[in-house]
Parts: sequence; structure tokens; C-alpha cells
Amino acid sequence: MTTSTGFDIRRIGGRIGAEILGVDLSTDLDPGVVTEINSALLEHKALVFRDQHLDDAGQLRFASLFGDLTTAHPTVPSVDGQPNVLPVDGDEGIRANQWHTDVTFVRTPPKASTLRSIVIPPYGGNTLIANSAAAYRDLPEPLRELADKLWAVHSNDYDYAAPKNEKAAEHRRRFVSRKYRTAHPVVRVHPETGERGLFIGGFARSIDGLGPSESRDLLRIFQSYVTRPENIVRVVWAPGDLVLFDNRITQHYAPDDYGDLPRLLHRVTVAGDVPAGVDGTLSHVVEGDEASHYTPAAA
Ligand code: SIN
Repeated sequence: MTTSTGFDIRRIGGRIGAEILGVDLSTDLDPGVVTEINSALLEHKALVFRDQHLDDAGQLRFASLFGDLTTAHPTVPSVDGQPNVLPVDGDEGIRANQWHTDVTFVRTPPKASTLRSIVIPPYGGNTLIANSAAAYRDLPEPLRELADKLWAVHSNDYDYAAPKNEKAAEHRRRFVSRKYRTAHPVVRVHPETGERGLFIGGFARSIDGLGPSESRDLLRIFQSYVTRPENIVRVVWAPGDLVLFDNRITQHYAPDDYGDLPRLLHRVTVAGDVPAGVDGTLSHVVEGDEASHYTPAAA
């Protein structure tokens, strides 16, 4: 499909994902183009821009077209001299091979994330992105009605993986150096489209009012709808690509399938609002603080 401002949108998945062709992200984009990219993001949820070869400044400029930026991460250090850029470096033991939505352990998780590929292994090292609105729609009605009423507590403090080496252990120590627990609705209403999506993922540790085993079982059932192959697009990176995804209504996963080969992405995230459930109730902090050093929306 060609947009009115002249770029092409080519779908790459049945339910999520599109490639944007004919936009050079290193130039000053016309506001009309930005509006159409935002519409494409709302519709397709994950957009791939090939062969852009931006530097950090270019990635920061592009991400900030969609709103204020967060700092790199609530606990993990940024790229040197770039407070808004998070290194995603396989060599640092950072393997995001767990389905998650970025930073849902704080009250205002990012609205959108941009990932830029710098070093990509010759095989593997892809990113999978799932449509959590399609997952919600797939639920049988009784499960949808149940999910609508539930709240989950998200935390950065749990044993998500046994660190493979000392660098990974150090990364994990930094990751949990401040502890956050935040209650979010299991079903989030998208603030721009009104779409409902399952807002869970790896940081969702328990369901309010339920014990550990019921929590685990219910989260596993809901999560199994998010990770259905139908709801996923696989991004096969080449160096110089940029991916923009809507963090309010997706989850992602980076398979740990490239051994010790180098892989480096830079991530820049756009600040989000406070999630709201189907009755309009807003997320709240359970432990920790508003993470205002991380996200301007919380300040
Ligand atoms: C992330 O979770 O932001 C990183 C995803 C990736 O490494 O592909």
C-alpha cells in the first residue's frame, strides 16, 4: 500500500508487522510522514525500516518524533555519554530470551521502543514480536471476561534465568539493584486506539488476590495466546536496520541461538502513560517509586 505522503507499507505478517519502504530516517521527516508512520504503527504494531544505518543521534532524533524519551533504563547503565540509549549487547550477557513488554515493572512503561542493529550474527539473533491485542481477541469469551477483571503485579526482581557467566551475573545484579513492583490491569486499553490487549509478559509475576500456583497457571494460559505462532512476526536483522514497535500492545523475545557470536543493538524508548484497565482504573506502584529518573511521564 502506498500512503498519501508517498511511502510504501508492505505487510510481513498476517496479524502483526510491516516494512516501511521509501523513507530515509536520516532526513528531517515531514510532519505528514510522521503522522502516517504513527498510523502504520497503530495498525501493524511493529514497523521495520531496512538499511538506514543511523548513528545514536539519528536514532534519538527519530524516536523523539513520537514523544519524550525515557532515559536508557531504570537500573541498567546507558551507552557511554548517551543517557537515553540502552546497549543490548549479547557479549554483556544480555539475552532477552523471555517474552516480555519493555519495563512493565514501573508505573509508566514506554509507549514505544526503537531497536537499531549494529552488529548482527551470521545466523540467529532474530527478534520475535507478538500482537497482544490479537491474543486477547483469540481468548474464548469466559477467559476474556475473567482477564478483564484481573490485575497482575509486575517486578524486575525474580530469577528469570541462571546467569551463564560472570558478565551475565553482573548484569543481573545491576538489573535488580533497585526493586520495582507495580500492579497493572491484565487487559490494557490502548490509549490511542481503544483496542484491548493482554498486558502481561515476563515481568508479570502474580495475579492480585491469587496464590502463587493459581497465578502461575492463569498467567501461563493467557500467555499461551500471546505466543501463538499466528500472533508473531519474526524480524531477521541486517546491520543498519531499525525497528519501531508499540510497547503498549506487543511483547517480544530475542532467541538465544547465536552462541558466543557478537550481537549488538541500541535501544531508545519513548515515554508512555499510565496503563488503564477496561473500567478506566489506572496502574499503581506496589513497591519502589515512580521511577521519575527513568520516565518523564512519571515526573
Ligand atoms: C529487548 O528486549 O529490548 C531486546 C530485544 C532484542 O535483543 O532483540
